[in-house]
Amino acid sequence: MLKDIFMGLSQNQFLNNAAKKYGLKMGAQSVVAGTNIPEVIKSIKELNAQGISCTVDNLGEFVFKEEEATAAKEQILKVIEAINENQVDAHISLKPTQVGLDIDYSFCLNNVREIVHQASRYDMFVNIDMEDFKHLELTFNLLDELSMEFDNVGTVIQAYFHKASEYLERYKNFRIRIVKGAYKESAEIAYQDKKDIDANFIKLIEWHLLNGKYTSIATHDHRIINHVKEFVKENNIPNDQFEFQMLYGFRKDLQLSLASEGYHFCTYVPFGNDWYGYFMRRLAERPQNLNLVAKQVFNK
Ligand code: FDA
Repeated sequence: MLKDIFMGLSQNQFLNNAAKKYGLKMGAQSVVAGTNIPEVIKSIKELNAQGISCTVDNLGEFVFKEEEATAAKEQILKVIEAINENQVDAHISLKPTQVGLDIDYSFCLNNVREIVHQASRYDMFVNIDMEDFKHLELTFNLLDELSMEFDNVGTVIQAYFHKASEYLERYKNFRIRIVKGAYKESAEIAYQDKKDIDANFIKLIEWHLLNGKYTSIATHDHRIINHVKEFVKENNIPNDQFEFQMLYGFRKDLQLSLASEGYHFCTYVPFGNDWYGYFMRRLAERPQNLNLVAKQVFNK
């Protein structure tokens, strides 16, 4: 019920636009690493100092105008330059709809190509985040076309899809982030029950650890993390074959302890004014995240 309310709010374009004008509010500052490039670089430096690498997401969605998509692309190019100039340990995550997938496929492809090309000059990886099912095949098409020219690009497989194993097999030679899946999808195409999603998530992670190139295991679920730790030990999978990923501001103690245990750890660092949809999806996933909001409101 609460989940549906927050998912509905995340897609409200009026509120999305309003939020952009008012800076980080409602506790979003706990999970969004600033609104501009100097702020995000500062956050990355702090995480790097703790042995954590970063993937940087210039927040944005609901982009239906070419000029907005072009501005988002320009901003991502500036982030790439800033990462290189500051010599921080970070790469890029981007959402195809932010750089024009809802406007025109070729326009989007050209934008992502420019980003991947620029990143390749610094040997920097670009992850194409996976959005809802409506954009899935087009996102795979982007990856198919870009991987003919570049090897610094990969994507995300969402375990809630019935066909997730098929997708994973198709992209086993890529650096792949495996997640449970964040969007509301129908029962025809996606598991709805948490137990089924978790079981499929574990199955995909194990398969990719054994058969894939490099696996990014993106979850805050300690049960799954503990299972993976056992699995890699039993199967002699070296630490440089995989990493754990979590979102900025979540389970900070667990992030630090995994890094200090010697696992590769990467924090997903979102920044920018367009924080509202991202923040509402985090509340939809885990209404307890409202604690973060309460802490911000009462700690003033
Ligand atoms: P889940 O929310 O299922 O929680 C499982 C259990 O873990 C909880 O019951 C609790 O015990 C514990 N737990 C979880 N969060 C906690 C917290 N904050 N504090 C304490 N305990 C906690 N999705 C997508 O569709 N496309 C994408 O590209 C991405 N990208 C992405 C990158 C990264 C780095 C992450 C971490 C996640 C994504 N996601 C995503 C989101 C993903 O699909 C999923 O919605 C969320 O990670 C929530 O699922 P979890 O596996 O984290 O645990």
